[in-house]
Amino acid sequence: MVQAATTNHNDRLKPKRVLSLKNLWPFLNPYRLQMSIAFVLLCLASAALLLVPLAFRDLIDVGFGTSDGTTPAVNTDTKFDVLFGLAAFWALMVASRYYMVSWIGERVTVDLRSAVFASVIRQSPQFFETLQTGEVLSRLTGDTTLIQTVVGSSASMGLRSLFQFTGGMIMLAVTSFYLFSINIGLMICLIFPIMLIGRTVRKLSRESQDRIADSSAMAGEILNAIATVQSYTQEAREIKRFADSAHLSFLTAIRRVKVRALLTAVIITAVMGTIIFVLWLGARQVSAGMMTLGELASFVIYAAMVAGSVSTIAQVWGDIMRAAGATERLLELLHTETAITDTANPLPLASESRAEIKFNNVKFHYPSRPLTSALDQVNLVINAGETVALVGPSGAGKTTIFHLLLRFYDAQSGSIAINGQNISHISLHDLRRLIAIVPQDPVIFSANVMENIRYGQPDAADEAVIDAANAAQVTQFVPQLPDGYHTFLGERGIRLSGGQRQRIAIARAMLKNAPVLLLDEATSALDAESEILVQEGLNAAMQGRTTLIIAHRLATVQKADRIVVMENGKIVETGDAIELRKKGGLYARLAELQFEN
Ligand SMILES: Nc1ncnc2c1ncn2[C@@H]1O[C@H](COP(=O)(O)OP(=O)(O)O)[C@@H](O)[C@H]1O
Ligand SMILES: [Mg+2]
Repeated sequence: MVQAATTNHNDRLKPKRVLSLKNLWPFLNPYRLQMSIAFVLLCLASAALLLVPLAFRDLIDVGFGTSDGTTPAVNTDTKFDVLFGLAAFWALMVASRYYMVSWIGERVTVDLRSAVFASVIRQSPQFFETLQTGEVLSRLTGDTTLIQTVVGSSASMGLRSLFQFTGGMIMLAVTSFYLFSINIGLMICLIFPIMLIGRTVRKLSRESQDRIADSSAMAGEILNAIATVQSYTQEAREIKRFADSAHLSFLTAIRRVKVRALLTAVIITAVMGTIIFVLWLGARQVSAGMMTLGELASFVIYAAMVAGSVSTIAQVWGDIMRAAGATERLLELLHTETAITDTANPLPLASESRAEIKFNNVKFHYPSRPLTSALDQVNLVINAGETVALVGPSGAGKTTIFHLLLRFYDAQSGSIAINGQNISHISLHDLRRLIAIVPQDPVIFSANVMENIRYGQPDAADEAVIDAANAAQVTQFVPQLPDGYHTFLGERGIRLSGGQRQRIAIARAMLKNAPVLLLDEATSALDAESEILVQEGLNAAMQGRTTLIIAHRLATVQKADRIVVMENGKIVETGDAIELRKKGGLYARLAELQFEN
């Protein structure tokens, strides 16, 4: 009874889900021509296939001599020729259709994948806080593959089977209406139990997919944390955890396989039983002279064709249902509005080369933490060309200042302006062009050193890249790399130390040559000596730029024009290093801790 309730629930969902497939139309539309060709090929192939049993009938009835006892041997050869010709034509049509349809499937999948990727890459960081990148990836690959199955094969298989079914039924009726009626009666009796088992199979197959996804998600998490797993020697436990989860997916799969095996047995028995029964009736008709042997033969072939097409249609229906689900999930990604909207009528930049920054009463909380303010009534003016250091305990809101300036998030109240222009009135592209940032955890792409530095300026000349590399002291460690500047750095730069990654990120920011430079703990992973060297490069880069430096080591910020001290999202003190130490506030306390020993 519980079972019945769930199936009812699924039934209610069905029409809606299948309808979501129509949203694929924009992706299919450009390939109307290809689809029309495929359709014509499909019609031709179906027609050829439906003619085969007729050719058989002729072969048997005319070729092998008929009831009148004559044996026209000459005729036989041509009949075989016709049969072979038909088969060859059918083969050609099938192959061409296969090519055409698969082409459409592959093409549409690629387009869809690119469109989803293009939509996802524009999302603000908020989006990735709720949806894991792993899930995005699985939608990009798994869900698009499901759609590819339908567009690139199932749909045409279904259509072909539909033709085959309709044509076959008509031919059955034409060949022997008596046998046809009996056949239909039997089929109707059989279809219900088969559909019932089929439904169970579908439910179980969904369950088994979920289990597989669970265990791959687990594997992904474990592999990402491999160093931690190994250092805590938890391999055995993780192996067991994975094996357990994989075993669970095995058990679910086997439950599905059992039902499916039962279904197969039922179908084969039912179909063969029907055919044999009809054959028996037919044989009696033939001996009674009411039907020719050839007619009976062609009837049986048509019956087999119809049975085959019914099972294909059932399978295709399953694929279509799964693809409908996949389409829904992909469309969700495709149509997500980004939390950060680009203004419709962006103002032209007031200046491309200088930047005065102004935070005016900015109050902000992260979307996932509505109750805690990350920034609370922040007022801050940074003059063009000024170097300002942000210091304060971790969690104070320093990085958040950078996030808001780059418009990764929008403040809930207050405003931020660059050169007097509210940053939400200029285009995101222009805004971010003004800013070069060295983030707290620099990202290295799986490319070589050159390409990594050049990331923001793909057409920068080699000399410019090397200059930036010099200033950021990348040059210092490049000779130790196997291929110098052309050394491939591995995924996420795993072949570099933290300090080396930071220096590449600094070089990248320097090369961008933007009027605003944001440094978030940019030298935190460097040893004292490299830090002094990199600082020299940075000092040069800060000349004439508006620079915001976040640093924990107060020694790094002594030369800043101004130090802004933050705590709990608020600015608590401002001034230069000497003033602030005299004042005896938070900065003085921090400085005491760091400089006293
Ligand atoms: N993506 C986020 N979602 C929710 N809270 C965040 C997020 N990023 C930072 N926070 C919280 O906002 C506060 C300020 O963080 P942050 O600006 O990164 O501090 P810091 O001064 O160390 O750079 C912290 O309490 C932190 O936990
Ligand atoms: Mg930070």
